[in-house]
Amino acid sequence: MKSTAVSEFENIKNLCHDDMQAVNQLILDRLKSDVALVNQLGLYIIGAGGKRLRPILAVLSARALGYEGRAHHLLAAIVEFIHTATLLHDDVVDESQMRRGQETANAMFGNQASVLVGDYLYTRAFQMMVELDRAKVMRVFSDTTNVIAEGEVRQLMHVNNPDVTELDYMKVIHAKTGVLFAAATGLAAEIAGYSEQFDALYAYGLHLGQAFQLADDALDYISDSDTLGKNVGDDLAEGKPTLPLIYAQQKGTEAQRHLIRQAIQNGGRENLGDVLNVIEATGAITYTIEK
Ligand code: IPE
Ligand code: IPE
Ligand code: MG
Ligand code: MG
Repeated sequence: MKSTAVSEFENIKNLCHDDMQAVNQLILDRLKSDVALVNQLGLYIIGAGGKRLRPILAVLSARALGYEGRAHHLLAAIVEFIHTATLLHDDVVDESQMRRGQETANAMFGNQASVLVGDYLYTRAFQMMVELDRAKVMRVFSDTTNVIAEGEVRQLMHVNNPDVTELDYMKVIHAKTGVLFAAATGLAAEIAGYSEQFDALYAYGLHLGQAFQLADDALDYISDSDTLGKNVGDDLAEGKPTLPLIYAQQKGTEAQRHLIRQAIQNGGRENLGDVLNVIEATGAITYTIEK
């Protein structure tokens, strides 16, 4: 049986079914290259689906403002290209093996091809932005992609560091996830001709994006790979101090704190069971989800 959340998401998707068909077609058309490996790897990751959450948000935001044109499809496709590029790069950095229910592109085609096709998608997104011919769109996306890159580097510097604080963590998720959601919703206002609504829709996307990353970081501990389409325990394996671990350290006993600190410092999956027990005992998942 499907969970309520899943069926609610399907209801939302039904609201923009025709728009999203157009967006998906545009994505496939603009993916094309004369270089076979670009098509092959590009189709491999894009064809595997993904929730298309960011393009859905762009499309629905534009529609909410009564927009009747087609430029929002281009906006949505650009956002999905940028998102997909970050995933290709992220899976190389995270050494992840599973994404969207299949082997990651790096596992299938190697790191080099993943990084380079990620660059291809990034730059294709910028070509498409120029078509929209609006300074605001260019400005927001160039800031967004720069901040995402900065966020990923910031996160890299946190690896194996048990002293990372909740504030440090919030800065990372603001940058690596929040601002792309915000660009998707905020720029929809710009495209729809309601630039005075930009700030409100930008703030909405920013909050939703951060909430989404908090949920993802909780699910990395408590979900299963069939549901997520990616391996659970990846964050611990990498020594990534996400909020569940930060909070568990704060609330745990001396022994529990020591265990979590060691797990962050050493990475690996060996301690996943013990770490889960501490996360459970300290209410760290509940805290993360509530936040
Ligand atoms: C994955 O994003 C990266 C995070 C911000 C957690 P999604 O969960 O939206 O990935 P897809 O596109 O649905 O696969
Ligand atoms: C999201 O972070 C990556 C970006 C937003 C670039 P994660 O590393 O948590 O994403 P997953 O879990 O691999 O999808
Ligand atoms: Mg990752
Ligand atoms: Mg994750």
